[in-house]
Amino acid sequence: MKLPIVAYGDPVLRQAAEEIDENYPNLSALIDNMFETMYAANGVGLAAPQVGLPIRLFVVDASPFGEDEDEVSRDPSTKDFKRVFINPIMVEETGEKWAFSEGCLSIPHINEDVVRPERVVINYLDQQFEEQEEILTGLAARVVQHEYDHIEGKLFIDKLGPLKKAMLKSKLDSISKGQVDVSYKMSFPQLKKKR
Ligand code: NI
Repeated sequence: MKLPIVAYGDPVLRQAAEEIDENYPNLSALIDNMFETMYAANGVGLAAPQVGLPIRLFVVDASPFGEDEDEVSRDPSTKDFKRVFINPIMVEETGEKWAFSEGCLSIPHINEDVVRPERVVINYLDQQFEEQEEILTGLAARVVQHEYDHIEGKLFIDKLGPLKKAMLKSKLDSISKGQVDVSYKMSFPQLKKKR
């Protein structure tokens, strides 16, 4: 089942999300639904707050980056990089900082260069609640950094300079009011209030 994606402006995107345990209701159905929602919207990652749930859970499938026709932009770190991250902890972020144009399903039609360190160590529970620790680089690290920010209540636009932010303000206001054309179902905070 596809879930509506929460749009920019909804307070759930600004909450620090809570850990969950194995008894979280209908967790495997939720994970299936998050993958279905992400694929339908052509995303490579989706965090639980983006479907309205302030819990420390996100899913990623960055394999589209690994299948890029263009050899230069093809990134081997993303090959078969499909994962479920439960209660993740970012252990370390190191290496050279690099810029990559990021977007977000909650902030449609905005893409901006974001600078992040190239390598991460992340500790998490997989869907079987087995503890995992992975070292990631390249776009795999990038997707995880973006999704991890979501469960900390952060968005990629927070990392932009003040001038860029000022330039995006009216676009962001329009998104929160539902004045945006998207191919997937969204939930808009300002429309919700009126109902
Ligand atoms: Ni996002």
